[in-house]
Order: sequence, then C-alpha cells, then structure tokens
Amino acid sequence: MAKSGQHGGNVLQMAEQYGLAPADITDFSANINPLGMPPFLRDILTVHLDRLEVYPDIDYQDLHQALAQHHQLPPHNVVAGNGATELIFLWVQQQQPQHALIVEPTFGEYRRALTRDGCEITQYSLDEKTGFALTVQFLDALSPEYDCLFLCTPNNPTGLIPELELLIQIVERCEEYDIALFIDESFIDFIPERQSLIECLNDYPHLYILRSLTKFYALPGLRLGYMVSANEAVLDGMRDLREPWTINALAATAGEYLFRDQKYVEHTHLWLTQQQEFMWQELNQFSALECSPPSANYLFFKHKVPDSKLQEELMQYGILIRSCANYPALNHQYYRVAIKSHSDNLKLIAALKEVLNHD
Ligand SMILES: Cc1ncc(COP(=O)(O)O)c(C=O)c1O
Repeated sequence: MAKSGQHGGNVLQMAEQYGLAPADITDFSANINPLGMPPFLRDILTVHLDRLEVYPDIDYQDLHQALAQHHQLPPHNVVAGNGATELIFLWVQQQQPQHALIVEPTFGEYRRALTRDGCEITQYSLDEKTGFALTVQFLDALSPEYDCLFLCTPNNPTGLIPELELLIQIVERCEEYDIALFIDESFIDFIPERQSLIECLNDYPHLYILRSLTKFYALPGLRLGYMVSANEAVLDGMRDLREPWTINALAATAGEYLFRDQKYVEHTHLWLTQQQEFMWQELNQFSALECSPPSANYLFFKHKVPDSKLQEELMQYGILIRSCANYPALNHQYYRVAIKSHSDNLKLIAALKEVLNHD
C-alpha cells in the first residue's frame, strides 16, 4: 500500500498532525485544476446516476471509442484505466521487465510497480547543476541491457519538459535497443503548444504513452486515465490480465463526454497562462528560493537554507506544500507547489513573505 507521505494531497493526515480542521488548509501539494470539474460534466454525471445500478460494459467500448476519436487512433490502440496509476502497475505486470531504467527525480509509482514485480532498477539521476534538465548526455546511458525506460514529460516534480528533438532521439534509440519506452504525459494537457508523442505512435512500436484525466479535469476522486500504443499485442495482454470492471460506470461516462467541452480547455489555459506567470514572478522575488521555470500547473523550487523546514512553517499559516524530501535524487530543501486560483496563490505568497522574511 502507498504510504500517506508518498504523495501530495494528504490534507486529512496533515490536519490531524497540526491540530487543524481540513477546511482550514489550502492544499498546494496536489496539482489539480482549480477550476474544478467541467460544469457540464456535473450535469452529465447526475443524469447518468442510473448507470450505477448495472455493470459497466466489460470492454468499455463507448469509452475507448471516445478516447480513440479524441486522438484520431483506432480504438484497439487505447486502454483506459482506473486512473493512470492502474495502468502503470498493469503495464509492468504485463511486461515483466527484468531491468528498468528510471530517470529521477520523478513520480514514485513507477518504482513501486517495478519493485512489486521484482524488477532490478537502475537510477539515472538528473543533475542539480543542470537544473535537473534531461540533456543529450542521457542518450549515452541507454543500452540494450534495459528492458524498459520510464520518462515523465512534463516531469513530476520538476515541471521540466525535454526538447521534442531529444525525446525523438530517445524514442529512436529505444527502438534500436529493443527497450520498451513508457512516457507519462499526465500533465501535458496543461501545455497547449506542446506536441505530444502520440502523433508519431505508429512509427514506434516500443512506445507507450500514459495520460491521466484526473489533473486537468479535476477528477482525482473519480479516477480515469488511459494508455495509447501501436503495440496491440501488449495492450491485448494488459486487457487479458486486468480484473473485470475496474473503471466505475460514472468514470467511464465522464470519459465518453469530457472532450466535448472545448470552452473548459480554453478557460484552463487562460487561467494557467496568467497564474503561472504571476507565481513565477512572485517566487523569483524571494532570494532564499531557487525556482525552476514552470511548464505545467505546478512549480518546483529549492529553499537555499540547509536545515529548511518550509513545509512545517507554512502549515502554521494553513498552507500545505509538497516536500520533495522523499524523491530519490532530492532532499528536504526541495518543494513543489500547485498553481491555484489567484486568491489562493496570493495566500501562499503572503505566507511565504512571513516565513522567509524571518529566515
Ligand atoms: C506524473 C504522474 N503520473 C500519473 C499520476 C497518477 O494519476 P491518476 O490520478 O490518473 O492515477 C500522477 C499523480 O499524481 C502523476 O503525478
């Protein structure tokens, strides 16, 4: 089981630890779209509540059709899951890799899935000196001894996204070396100008792309994600392995309708363009912080004070931020904060002013 401190969003535990009511905490530790779920979806879900009274279609045909149509792919190139997380574990279970390469720091569930299935893991540590950016040197780390490689773009927690040209070189090297390449694009919907590797799926049978719908559409409690790949044999293997009905009927319904609301997408991008710039400017005002340039809906920074206790100090103001102390290749001086509504963002900046001016 995942431990409570391994992810952001632990409002209940933190409230208990600090003697606060959960409602008194503003959560910057989970990167969820602050616009909330698309309003039309609330109505759709209400109208379809009856679907809870029957089993969902075991193949989720309408859901897969909608996801496939969104990316202009055939439905058999798509597998939906109970959140992207289910698909990380299912993919590893299907692949049974013996030796995996993980680029750290990154999302912790790749490592948990690989460890659970007894896979040897080699860690490629991104370097603080290059701001944790993935550079062309990484190509030299690839070798046929690896069965699979995990990459997260934009990366969680750093928010960095490698150049597309470098990514293509990595994909090609993986094809050459017979390395299954797992690319997690769970936050890419927040970056409208960024081209997804989904567009070149057919050229690369070793490529598997993961998407989550829980962050952009603010549905972490509903759970919905999907994987796309041109490697139909592997996707079929995943379908055969999984337990029946892991996606609940309302999540499946949401996936059938979500992509119809272009206005929500535009509102989200408008909010993010404004608030990302605002937060980036504000955080850069603090000389004690060293902030990485953001690409998605969160910011990553280092607190330059060696015995940093920023998470604890901000909790005194009811502000919960993500400590990155438990990420391999990072330590207790690194933090991640979500970009939220303007009024919430102002609260964080005000609390930081209080805390950092006393350092
Ligand atoms: C990079 C990344 N991938 C996948 C997930 C899992 O998303 P889901 O809620 O769809 O399971 C997360 C959740 O934080 C994440 O940060």
